[in-house]
Amino acid sequence: MANLITHLGGLTLAHPVMPAAGPPVRDGKALLACAAGGAAALVTKTISVKAAEVPSPNMADFKTYFLNTELWSELPPEQWLEKEYAITRQANLPVIISLGYSTEDIAKLAPQVAPFADALELSTHYISNDPGPMQDAIRAAKTTGLPVWVKMSPFREPQALALAAQEAGADGIVAVNSFGPAFGVDIEHGGRLWMGGKGYGWMSGPALKPIALRMVYDIARTVEIPILGVGGINTGADVVEFLMVGASAVQVCTAAITNGPQIYGKIATQLGKWLDEHGYASVEEIRGLALRQPIPGMTRSPQLRVDRCIGCNRCVISCVYEALYLVEKKIRIYEERCARCGLCISRCPVDALLPNG
Ligand SMILES: Cc1cc2nc3c(=O)[nH]c(=O)nc-3n(C[C@H](O)[C@H](O)[C@H](O)COP(=O)(O)O)c2cc1C
Ligand code: SF4
Ligand code: SF4
Repeated sequence: MANLITHLGGLTLAHPVMPAAGPPVRDGKALLACAAGGAAALVTKTISVKAAEVPSPNMADFKTYFLNTELWSELPPEQWLEKEYAITRQANLPVIISLGYSTEDIAKLAPQVAPFADALELSTHYISNDPGPMQDAIRAAKTTGLPVWVKMSPFREPQALALAAQEAGADGIVAVNSFGPAFGVDIEHGGRLWMGGKGYGWMSGPALKPIALRMVYDIARTVEIPILGVGGINTGADVVEFLMVGASAVQVCTAAITNGPQIYGKIATQLGKWLDEHGYASVEEIRGLALRQPIPGMTRSPQLRVDRCIGCNRCVISCVYEALYLVEKKIRIYEERCARCGLCISRCPVDALLPNG
């Protein structure tokens, strides 16, 4: 089996999959369930100086995406300090404590949570685009001597912020938080809104993955510190994508809400299997592979591997240029019609079409 051991600064993990801040890590008991479910480290729900007052309803699942209006923890910081962090430590896994938001909040909370933490994660979700307050918060957290990770939101410019975070002493970047504000309407009930509060929601789940991948790709080309990828991860193959664009580890939230905490171990097992099947010996071997790839340019129509074609018609029906057709259930092409858009390559389930040129 491929080696999944993951190094994140000074932390060594059995594999790269851990929870992201959210309901699956809402208290000590839930965190122990994540450990039992196979997480390699534990990230706790974001706390701030006061308990959050969260509107209801605040979560809805639409399969390709998920909306929420949760804020930070609804538990007061005192309860975390007196009870929940101590329970979390019983798992004997690295504990990353998530904190928000202002410099003053972080300066107060960081020393208090430090005895329970192996690293701190700072959410920047509710602070401005200006990197100044984020840098001040990082410096305040760094006084604890712990590694400090900074979590980016996907509606910000990642490279400038990641660079500013690194300059202020951050030890890792977590990318990304949920996207939005977004919106959802229940058409079966007179257009009822799905979310409480202002009616807006923050989007996570599979639809967030391409945005998160782009953020990780850009950040990885900018900073030296490790990156944790998060957004829409459901399977081991999703993790492979994040590692290839430069992440060292990943976090999972929505898939753990919809499938339960066993998902962490399941995703790690799938990752190991994928690496074995593709002849890679370790997670390290695939990290950053996409960063070393040139931007593709297709100068000719796709190469056809006719022997592989199973005649499913998926590429033919979606070629808007009508360049593809089947003869006796085998793929053929009118090369002169092909606009080299590349769509058919992604549509083929058996790799019978390859980019050319
Ligand atoms: C219901 C819910 C609550 C969340 N609460 C927090 C939070 O307290 N702090 C935080 O940094 N991110 C929070 N997030 C964002 C997640 O940690 C994660 O960054 C985002 O959902 C994308 O990952 P996913 O697609 O795997 O869910 C929350 C997400 C959801 C769905
Ligand atoms: S590359 Fe685009 S235009 Fe060419 S065959 Fe494929 S889908 Fe059709
Ligand atoms: S999608 Fe692939 S398998 Fe299906 S018809 Fe096209 S080339 Fe053949």
